[in-house]
Order: sequence, then C-alpha cells, then structure tokens
Amino acid sequence: MKKNGMVLMTIVSAAAAVSHASAVSAQGVERAAFGTVAGRPVEVYTLRNAKGVEARVTNFGGVIVSLKTPDRAGKLEDIVLGFDSVTPYIAGAPYFGAIIGRYGNRIGNAQFTLDGKTYTLAKNDGANHLHGGVKGFDKVIWAAEPFTGKGERGLVLKYTSADGEEGYPGTLKATVTYTLTDANELAVEYVATTDKATPVNLTQHSYFNLAGAGIGDILGHKLMIAASGFTPVDAGLIPTGAIAPVKGTPFDFRVPTAIGARIDADDPQLKNGKGYDHNWVLDRKGKGLQLAARVVEPTSGRTLEVRTTEPGLQFYAGNFLDGTIKGKGGKVYGHRTGFCLETQHYPDSPNKASFPSTILRPGQEYRTRTVFALGVAK
Ligand code: GLA
Repeated sequence: MKKNGMVLMTIVSAAAAVSHASAVSAQGVERAAFGTVAGRPVEVYTLRNAKGVEARVTNFGGVIVSLKTPDRAGKLEDIVLGFDSVTPYIAGAPYFGAIIGRYGNRIGNAQFTLDGKTYTLAKNDGANHLHGGVKGFDKVIWAAEPFTGKGERGLVLKYTSADGEEGYPGTLKATVTYTLTDANELAVEYVATTDKATPVNLTQHSYFNLAGAGIGDILGHKLMIAASGFTPVDAGLIPTGAIAPVKGTPFDFRVPTAIGARIDADDPQLKNGKGYDHNWVLDRKGKGLQLAARVVEPTSGRTLEVRTTEPGLQFYAGNFLDGTIKGKGGKVYGHRTGFCLETQHYPDSPNKASFPSTILRPGQEYRTRTVFALGVAK
C-alpha cells in the first residue's frame, strides 16, 4: 500500500510539475519559429520582465538576438547587434550575441599539450584557433528549456560536445542558463563537465551599443574596467605571456574614459589589435561575482555593468566591423559600432603555464557566472 501510495504521489507531482511548467512558460516566456539550420527548425524565446526589458534568445548558438532596454526617458531601444532571422548567423556573423566555446578567444598555433599529449585544433584565424573553431558552440543547435521563477524568467540551454570535436579531447556536457530578472539584470551561468581532461573557457559575445544597434559608433561610450593589468599580444593577438600594468597607457580604464579618447593612439598594442581587442586582468578580491566593467552612454543615459566570477575580460571595440554587414531592420553595422565585454580566462592559457588554468578534469565541475546589469544614469 505504502509503496503504491508513494508511486502514485510521484506520478501526480511529476504531472503537476509538467502542467505548471508549461502554463508558466506560456505566460512568461514566448517561443516562436526562427528559421531552419540544415533542415532543422530553430526557435527564438522572448524573455520579458516586469519593467518591459526584453531579451530574445535563439537556441542556435545560444545567441542573444535582441535586448531592449529603456533610456533616461523610458524609451526602449534594442542595444545589441544581430540579425532578424537565423540564416545570416549560420555563416556571416562575427559571433554576434553568441555563446562561445569550447574555448573563448585564441589558442596559439591551434595547438596545446596536456598531460604529455599534443592536441591539434581547427585553425580558423590564420594559424591560430579562435572561439572554439570552425563550428564552435556559436554554430550548434542547443536543447532549450524555458523556466520562470519569482521575479525572473529564463532559458536553460544544453549542448554535448563530442570527444574530438574541433580537435578537443573528451565529451563535454555544457549547460548555459540565461536569467532575466525584474531588477533588469541578465545573468549567464555556465556549467560543464567532461570525461577527459580538456580546456574550457566559455563566454558570451554580445556586441553592445547602448545608444541603439545600428545608430552610430560606440566611441563616445564611457567605459570603466576594474583592471590594473592586461595581457599584451603579438600581431596575431596571442598573448606574449606577460601581464603589463595599464598605468600610463591607453589601456587604463580604471577611471571612466570615452572608448574613442585614445583608441587610435600611437601605441604598439593598439596597432596589434587594430584598436582595443585585448584581455584585461581584473582586480579581483576573493571569489564570487565582482564588478568587471561599467559603461555609460551619455546621450541616452543607458548604462551597463558587467559582474563576473571570471579573472579576465576581453574588451573588443568592433574594429573588424567595416560596414559590409547589414543587420536587424536593414541597418548597416559600420566600423566600431558595437563593443564586446567577454568575461573569460586569459587567451592561450593552455600554452601559458603562468596564467590561471583552464583545464577541466573528469569529476570536476566548471561553473562560472556573469551578470549584465542594465540601467540608466541620472
Ligand atoms: C573576438 C576577438 C576579435 C574578433 C572578434 C570577432 O572578440 O578577440 O579579435 O575575432 O571576436 O570578430
């Protein structure tokens, strides 16, 4: 009897959970078709909070397709670069809004040695490996499950990367959860496990323009980065291994400074990056979420704060955008019309023993968190 009763209870509560989840998700998270990728349909999920802030996320690449936030006067504008349908994301996008993996940023010579074995990765950036390879996590279909909770709603994305994919060892199971809260925060949580030791460095590659995507360049945005050091790079954007002080250089953003104020200064590092495209070494104290960067767009008043558990931040100023990409609503994305703040471990860590390790081993759990907090300056 007791046993039957327990079984029955389990079934009832499971059924209740299912109907609860679908009712709530129908209410809190909308799902719509977003086109097909190699014949497979993909979807776009709309997360909207109590204040009208809205994030649209597709399960193709986990891309944040749009993010609408209010300005000083309450006017909503889409503040991320992207496309209206999935097709241009398949081949023609420089990682707009995507989840990046298995390794965000570059690995020099597309090669690393781990536990005595040398692994060769896909070369997709000259001789180097960039953002997980030819078909990184930005170009795969993720399993998506929406959820809602008190004052929040979101999307859980799951992807299993096969042993040997793009040259990486081990089957990697990744879960990325986007949560939009009523406090106007978009949180991204990354979790992964593996069955063989492998490098892992997951990040988010949204291009922000707080005045509005496609409206103009980002050079007037005022940026603060909480970092006293950065990792200088060679001409292929591979770190030299040094950590250089930002003091007295165009890389010092400890005091809020317009992105454009020094971007074209006569500086060898700026030449290598064609502007800012570098990893800052964050001034962290202990563990947990800490402020990494703060951006203010003076005309709209929109602000963006980035908090993270990660030790590094790639600030990329959209130097490779050249006006050849037409995005949402037919708007052209010209030079430096979007900036990325990619929370991460340092580039090329698998080849730099002095950098914090990016190696995940069986039995360990990879878990990092980044919060994009949206606001307005008074
Ligand atoms: C990253 C890299 C840049 C560039 C962009 C995509 O931010 O650091 O060099 O490759 O992605 O164009």
